[in-house]
Amino acid sequence: MDTDNDLASYSEYSEDIQHVWHTVTVPLGANTYDILIGPGLLTELGEDLKSNLPAPRYIIITDSNVEDYLGADLIKLLGQGGVRVELLSFAAGEESKNMDTVVDLARRMIDLGADRQTAILALGGGVVGDVAGFLASIYMRGVPLVQIPTTLLAQVDSSVGGKTGVDLPEGKNLLGTFYQPGRVYADIGVLTTLPKAEIRNGLAEVVKYGMIQSPELFDFLEEKWWDIINLEPHVTAHIVFSSCSIKADVVSADEREGDLRRILNFGHTVGHAVEAAAHYQIPHGEAVSMGMVVVSRISVAKGLMPEGDLERLCRLLDRLNLPKEIPANLSAEELMDLLQHDKKAKSGRPHFVLSRGIGQILITDDVSREELAVAIEASREFRAKS
Ligand SMILES: NC(=O)c1ccc[n+]([C@@H]2O[C@H](COP(=O)([O-])OP(=O)(O)OC[C@H]3O[C@@H](n4cnc5c(N)ncnc54)[C@H](O)[C@@H]3O)[C@@H](O)[C@H]2O)c1
Repeated sequence: MDTDNDLASYSEYSEDIQHVWHTVTVPLGANTYDILIGPGLLTELGEDLKSNLPAPRYIIITDSNVEDYLGADLIKLLGQGGVRVELLSFAAGEESKNMDTVVDLARRMIDLGADRQTAILALGGGVVGDVAGFLASIYMRGVPLVQIPTTLLAQVDSSVGGKTGVDLPEGKNLLGTFYQPGRVYADIGVLTTLPKAEIRNGLAEVVKYGMIQSPELFDFLEEKWWDIINLEPHVTAHIVFSSCSIKADVVSADEREGDLRRILNFGHTVGHAVEAAAHYQIPHGEAVSMGMVVVSRISVAKGLMPEGDLERLCRLLDRLNLPKEIPANLSAEELMDLLQHDKKAKSGRPHFVLSRGIGQILITDDVSREELAVAIEASREFRAKS
């Protein structure tokens, strides 16, 4: 792919719409940082870094796909702005999210002579953010970190909140740290090269934010769903801004994942079980989508959530092309066994984030196997009334 053309197309995309840039501040005392959101941000990256996160040199850490799309352009752009920058990349994909990759990158940084003043720019999706963030937190006991998320999931979720980490053969994200970035640049212009399936992954998280805390965001998704799936810049900037604002509120009240941060797990406890039962052949966003339907059905059955809100959720998921139904080959028994081994389960009883209606949640471990089994079975057949 011709990278100069890529840059030109990003700039075209961002022309005349720079006024949609937003800032979300994540208030974490001495670790407070800003998330900048909008199309075309990367064209201003060098100037902004020099003013707000000055470092004698920067190392971009990215994956092989993002390197192809953006690497050369960014190096050129930063170099022209007088910023000293180098790039290290690793093979794209979750399979690379491990200690071998971290150690390999660390050794390549040593080779380059990177010291404690060198800042890491994590350019990519959640995998890059987690790997590069983890490396930044341990390289010479910690170097400055900037997140430049390039997937919708990373822009609305993984680049915010400071969780970093890698997988072990025994499970995902089993090694990691909390390490806040100094700044986050969510340039929505870069999403135009993202495969549709990756957009859907991010949209499941956006729906989650509406469900847990924002009826306004949920209404906006219902109204603008067509523009959203087509990445219309104003609406995309708005949903990234709203999502980051909600996540920033939650993580600033609960930086190290106590009870409050658990509300972010809406749909995720069941979603993780679905992913594991399907041997990770079902994408995360789709699993979360199914999980949101299951917990919403439990909420309706318990008399907590109005049935009309479940119908609205299902209709929205349909429009965004997200699945509501659990595949027939995943048995309810297997899912429930997996839920009991969820690493976030307290003494064998999984916690569930249930809904009291759009925008309101309730955390409980009072969900029986029978209630879960009924909701899973119903989620195989349920269709939203149109
Ligand atoms: N730290 C957190 O709080 C947190 C939260 C949620 C998820 N995560 C982690 O995030 C990871 C998933 O992140 P993801 O969904 O972004 O996956 P990913 O990083 O694997 O990116 C998905 C794919 O899109 C490609 N890509 C990235 N940007 C692109 C662009 N602009 N154009 C074209 N292709 C592009 C990548 O190379 C990759 O192939 C998981 O490892 C998960 O555990 C972390």
